Amino acid sequence: MLVLAVAAMSVVFLFAVVNATQECAETMTMESKLFPTHKKSLVTFTHKKHNADYKIACADCHHVFTDGKNTWKEGDAVQKCDACHAEAKAATGKDAPKMSKKEKIQKYYYSAIHENCAGCHKALKKEAKPTGPTSCKECHPAAAK
Ligand code: HEC
Ligand code: HEC
Ligand code: HEC
Ligand code: HEC
Repeated sequence: MLVLAVAAMSVVFLFAVVNATQECAETMTMESKLFPTHKKSLVTFTHKKHNADYKIACADCHHVFTDGKNTWKEGDAVQKCDACHAEAKAATGKDAPKMSKKEKIQKYYYSAIHENCAGCHKALKKEAKPTGPTSCKECHPAAAK
């Protein structure tokens, strides 16, 4: 009986540990389903390091806007970026509709993710602070995987 109870408890415990790591992954390979095929090599993002080592607050990257203000707080559910930035990439070329940068970011995942990742790295580079990659090749060293 006791052995069974301990076994059952350790299963519950293990499950909790697995669940916790799923909630805030150490690293993640970004691969949005909005791109049926990827033109560029996939990017591995050091999620936990960005928060713990580079001291970036969760709410610098995660948001839910209510009346123009970010009301997301730690503990709230996190949706994937492409749940809201729900289209892949703005059309380009002379026939493409004119859109402001802000509109593009809100609509297109491609614009939102590059504004978030590369935008922060570029801003820090300008201030001569430790930063992450800013060029296409540094993040996407190769063409398709
Ligand atoms: C800081 C890292 C970073 C930089 C710099 C960067 N990207 Fe990306 N890029 C990403 C991430 C992350 C995604 C999202 C991938 C996903 O979720 O599928 C992405 C997605 C893409 C995609 C869509 C997916 C695909 O492979 O077709 C293309 C195209 C792309 N980037 C091209 C570029 C180009 C061109 C540049 C330079 C102007 C650039 N990226 C700079 C991180 C970066
Ligand atoms: C530098 C930006 C950044 C910071 C800081 C950050 N996150 Fe994230 N987080 C992301 C990105 C990007 C994703 C991937 C979203 C996607 O796939 O669309 C993500 C995914 C997640 C997910 C869901 C996916 C998973 O399995 O991990 C959770 C939960 C999460 N973050 C919580 C947090 C919490 C809590 C903090 C602060 C302790 C935090 N994040 C800090 C950018 C960040
Ligand atoms: C619940 C919906 C939602 C989710 C999930 C979401 N966004 Fe947004 N995001 C928005 C809206 C709406 C705006 C426009 C806000 C405004 O302009 O007032 C926005 C604005 C932005 C901006 C421009 C403003 C700023 O804060 O710099 C960036 C960059 C951005 N999002 C990136 C991301 C990334 C990266 C993720 C995933 C980690 C993400 N978003 C997840 C809804 C969302
Ligand atoms: C708010 C600022 C900020 C945002 C947003 C951000 N980064 Fe960074 N990133 C940094 C800083 C700061 C460093 C390096 C600091 C250092 O080396 O001390 C860094 C380092 C990196 C590195 C190299 C070191 C490592 O940990 O792998 C990569 C790759 C990287 N970032 C990718 C990304 C991607 C992909 C995203 C978007 C999903 C992203 N970053 C979003 C600030 C940011």
